[in-house]
Amino acid sequence: MDCFERGIERKNTNCDKWDAPFVKEGVVPMWVADMDFEVAPAITRRLVLAAGKGAFGYQFLSDHYYDAVIHFMKERHDYPVEKDWICYVPNVVLGLFAGLQAVTEKGDEVIIQTPVYGPFFKVVRESGRILTESPLKNEDGYYTMDFEDLEKKITEKTKAMLICNPHNPSGRVWKEEELERLVAVCAGHGIAIISDDIHSDIVTEGHSHQMIAPICRRMGVKCITCTSPSKPFNLASVHVANCIIEDKEVRERFQQFLAMHHVNECNAFAEEALIGAYEESGEWLAQMNAYVEGNLDYFVDYIHENIPSLKVRKPEGTYLVWVDFSGTDIGQGNIKEYLSENCRVLVNDGEFFGQAGKGFVRFNLACPRKNVEFALKNLERQFA
Ligand SMILES: Cc1ncc(COP(=O)(O)O)c(C=O)c1O
Repeated sequence: MDCFERGIERKNTNCDKWDAPFVKEGVVPMWVADMDFEVAPAITRRLVLAAGKGAFGYQFLSDHYYDAVIHFMKERHDYPVEKDWICYVPNVVLGLFAGLQAVTEKGDEVIIQTPVYGPFFKVVRESGRILTESPLKNEDGYYTMDFEDLEKKITEKTKAMLICNPHNPSGRVWKEEELERLVAVCAGHGIAIISDDIHSDIVTEGHSHQMIAPICRRMGVKCITCTSPSKPFNLASVHVANCIIEDKEVRERFQQFLAMHHVNECNAFAEEALIGAYEESGEWLAQMNAYVEGNLDYFVDYIHENIPSLKVRKPEGTYLVWVDFSGTDIGQGNIKEYLSENCRVLVNDGEFFGQAGKGFVRFNLACPRKNVEFALKNLERQFA
């Protein structure tokens, strides 16, 4: 665990998290979802070898790349995938855009369950589709899908749902029966599902990620699953992700969109990074999950014991914690600004996740424990 405890110095490395102009001196950033840990040694080794080739012209992904994805999906997620189904994309949000083009037309309605990762709103709106929100139910910090509301929001123009599994920001890892119920609703109305599974490899003890695609196949629902080693292995700037699409026609439309925008070429480091992650860094991933879970427990227990004005629940997955400040004096104000000024910690504002996020903020705990302790001490001083 030493490497996680130590972390990695990221200041002055042009990184968004620490070096963005709005990160004030002395403030610990706990906002954007990447980690303050050094990547697994196998990944660095492969990237150094790739850099040593000295040739960076156009290239394609080898069979080894696809085998690594297939093996990882089978072993880790019990999802048997065929090579043809795997569509490389540089990042997941582009996959959501392309996915939406593949399963809907302009003017169609698309449902998202809020609060949810901010770009979901943008992807739908900027694609000329109509956004429909179905708020999740929040009972004591435990979020569940509101199936009654969902049924009410569906019209004959509803053609797709964008879901987030595990769910950012609540940290829910959707259960098989919840996903089955959701897919059954979609099957009844001919609605396709685009599932953002970017956080699927970060789960706490006792929970396991369920892929929605096999359920969709069983119930005859078209599905696009967006995956990436970028969250669990901290590779966001390497730009490597895969959308897994079983339906040939949907896949062709998806690829057409990428080709039209000339974003279907991979970069020279994507393959080595993914192979290093998926094939050679299983032990690192297990240790990272254990370390992060230690941070989640520490953070949540500390708040329960010492800062009762804040409401929080341990997430089932992700390294993100969703904290309810609505019971504090600043619950209706600019919480993010207040925390930066008074607690010297930078977080994501709840409203980034939609109106349902008002009164909340999101903390990123993929960092050395000392940063978590720093944040908690400062929160305690202001809110206990
Ligand atoms: C749910 C979710 N999807 C997508 C992304 C962004 O992924 P990418 O950088 O691959 O577009 C994030 C990043 O925080 C996320 O939390």
